[in-house]
Amino acid sequence: MIASQERIEKHINSLSKYTATPNQGTTRLTYSEEDLQARTYIKEQMKTYGLKVREDGLGNIFGKLEGEKKDAPSVIVGSHFDSVPNGGDYDGPAGVVAGLEIAALFQENHIKPAHPLEIIAMIEEEGSRFGGGLMGSRGIAGYLQKDDIKQLKDKNGISVPEAMEEIGLDPSLEVKRDPKTIKAFLEMHIEQGPLLEEEQISVGVVESIVGLTQLEVTISGKAGHAGTTPMDRRSDALVAAANIIAKLPQIAIEEGEGTVTTVGRHEVFPNGANVIPDKVTFSVDIRSSKEEHIKNVVQKVKDFIASYEKDNIQAEVEQSLYMQPKELNQEICSLLQASCEQLDISYITMHSGAGHDAMVLSDITEVGLIFVPSKDGLSHCPEEWTATHELAAGVEVLYETALKLTKKS
Ligand code: GLV
Ligand code: MN
Ligand code: MN
Repeated sequence: MIASQERIEKHINSLSKYTATPNQGTTRLTYSEEDLQARTYIKEQMKTYGLKVREDGLGNIFGKLEGEKKDAPSVIVGSHFDSVPNGGDYDGPAGVVAGLEIAALFQENHIKPAHPLEIIAMIEEEGSRFGGGLMGSRGIAGYLQKDDIKQLKDKNGISVPEAMEEIGLDPSLEVKRDPKTIKAFLEMHIEQGPLLEEEQISVGVVESIVGLTQLEVTISGKAGHAGTTPMDRRSDALVAAANIIAKLPQIAIEEGEGTVTTVGRHEVFPNGANVIPDKVTFSVDIRSSKEEHIKNVVQKVKDFIASYEKDNIQAEVEQSLYMQPKELNQEICSLLQASCEQLDISYITMHSGAGHDAMVLSDITEVGLIFVPSKDGLSHCPEEWTATHELAAGVEVLYETALKLTKKS
């Protein structure tokens, strides 16, 4: 094995310290103090490995090793470094650490690539602070205009540019990347499911990624006293929201073919035990590998919500994210499989039920995505874990593939 398990473990352990919830998993919201600490660490490591570091107008971090061919497009390797609330140490960081280790291997082996190699650490893939998700890659792909970015606010009303400035980032910098400057994007990610572990396979070469959408629903009613307002004179936003939310699993099951819906976040206002709630906001995440199912479910959810608009109950539905299901580039899939065979690393081809920055970047460049095993299939929780030797095996597959791609004209 040429990848250094010691370096990989050191990076994973170092990044895991930058959490707002020590001993309760990783909570690293975009542009938070913990983001700044992780960002500083990542940039320092990039510099150690001889990369030229820059940040774009969203705070995505790029570390570049120049290629011998002048102005040739880059092969980019990396993932995101934000987390869900109380998440694990690997969702995102595993791919960033893979990028760092690949840079270390290029340096250690004195490799002068023909094409530049860029290591990337992206922001806000999870959408845990600003909603929607995949924000770093959507910016790079040109799907977020400067004006859209200014409008995005967190739950405390702090906008993206304000939050960026608080940690010393420059929101006036360019974000959209000219696709001509990218040759390919490679991402390593933990599987977040049980298949690889169960089958005792080291690597999943991802061929397709689930389509997903997120809705932000606001139900408005009327506040009142919990003791003095008779039951038949209430416009309780939480009761309406609870009824709506309870119906969503059935809508997904009826749609079938693995369609899933999740309400993972809700806020109740004014949130007092003796006050009838006058506003509830909640997210609805809808996923399917077939676009028609996503569209059907969105329509059914909207219709069902509309049917509650009565007796002073109002509803608003905003679609904060929509990504079609994606097929990934067959040539890169084949290259990844060839790298596995060459290294004698076991692999299978897979579908991803999780969303990834790779699905956004596949609109502007050729993309390859590999999975490494997740212990007990767990993710988005503190128990998320992948053995260091499994991370190293994934890194080697990506390294071999990056060598081929940076060499090839
Ligand atoms: C990211 O983890 C997602 O699939 O939402
Ligand atoms: Mn995630
Ligand atoms: Mn992720």
